[in-house]
Amino acid sequence: MAVPTTFLVALMALLSFQSPVYGIRQQAGAELGGGGSSGSGSGGGLSAYPALRFRDDQTFKILQLTDLHYGEDLRLDAKSDQFQRDMIAAEQPDLVVFSGDMVSGWVCVPSSERPLPVDCGPGWFERRWRQLIAPVHAAGVPYAITLGNHDAEADLSRREIVDLDVRTGGLLSLTRQGPPQATGASNYYLDVHGPPGSDRPAARIWLLDSMNRFCPPLMFGWGCVAQDTLAWLNSTISGLPPVPSLAFVHIPIPQFKEAWYDAPTVGRKEEDVACSVRDTGLFNLAREVGLTAIYSGHDHNNDYAGLLHGIRLAYGRKSGYGGYGPPPGWLRGARVIQLRLGEDPAQSTTWIRQADGSVAVQEPSGQPKGMRQLECHSDEYGQQGPTDEQQQQQQQQQQPLKVEDQ
Ligand SMILES: *[C@@H]1O[C@H](CO)[C@@H](O)[C@H](O)[C@H]1NC(C)=O
Repeated sequence: MAVPTTFLVALMALLSFQSPVYGIRQQAGAELGGGGSSGSGSGGGLSAYPALRFRDDQTFKILQLTDLHYGEDLRLDAKSDQFQRDMIAAEQPDLVVFSGDMVSGWVCVPSSERPLPVDCGPGWFERRWRQLIAPVHAAGVPYAITLGNHDAEADLSRREIVDLDVRTGGLLSLTRQGPPQATGASNYYLDVHGPPGSDRPAARIWLLDSMNRFCPPLMFGWGCVAQDTLAWLNSTISGLPPVPSLAFVHIPIPQFKEAWYDAPTVGRKEEDVACSVRDTGLFNLAREVGLTAIYSGHDHNNDYAGLLHGIRLAYGRKSGYGGYGPPPGWLRGARVIQLRLGEDPAQSTTWIRQADGSVAVQEPSGQPKGMRQLECHSDEYGQQGPTDEQQQQQQQQQQPLKVEDQ
């Protein structure tokens, strides 16, 4: 944080006047109005946004950016901007999904251990947000968000963040406010239509809000997709034409543990799964309604994908430069999911685009699966570990052991 204040202020001023370029990517199709491409069950009202659709070659490419953690440091945020631009340029996705912890709201939570940034308070989150969505706007790529556990820790609530994105995102934001009866805010779905000439939904992407901490009645551990949200999902889906469906959620569901130990996997696990403290039934509902792939973020040091009882459970790759991780030897990256018309999303082709431009094709790694993790990891500090910078600081300030540490 050794950035001169004048520089900080100048950059903040610049960012707060930077407004995204609103536009529609040609490939997203100019079909405005009728049909729409998404729904939230909350009534909607907006009808003019681009219809997502499969390409002529019957594929549809999603770029998952997860855990970008803007707001910790301007230099890191600038690197995350470049990271986003590189990922988008390399993959030319049809949709970008930001799967939570886009912003480290915790930096504006008063703490005795560190000073608050000077610009916390009204407008702090929006300044980060405008910077964060600038790369997708510059590229003209439609995008959608689901919230993480850190986004709503600063000056905006979950509902307010969704409103902000709808307001600032123009036609490119497909984010929608979830229905009032569903806990959280980022609960909605997007239909992907068939290739040009087809007006029917051909795939469906659910964005589900896994909240922050706690899963009532349990008042500890990580958040969950609430039962009221699942009830809404279940009743909504029964009124929709059945199509191949997948979901994005920030906090992994408990079955991510089982997927690692009991199922074929690709990719790696370098930390305990910090899953929802309680199983609210998303996995069983997914099996019931044919929602066959669930992608999460949250654990920066895991990037595996497994196939459990016909459902793909997969992490993204830690994207961007805020926050802890990824572990030594890994590059930051983004999961790419290529849907194919009519194909089961549990079988979609997927790979990791890495920050240096290389592609990691995830193979069964042969990594020993280790001692079975029985509980969802729930201690944030132990889970998230210190950042590189904090580690350096700690090494510099090594104190002799205190009595209570022995
Ligand atoms: C979903 O809804 C159906 C009725 O449409 C019901 O039979 C089923 O039990 C529900 N599933 C869950 C998990 O609530």
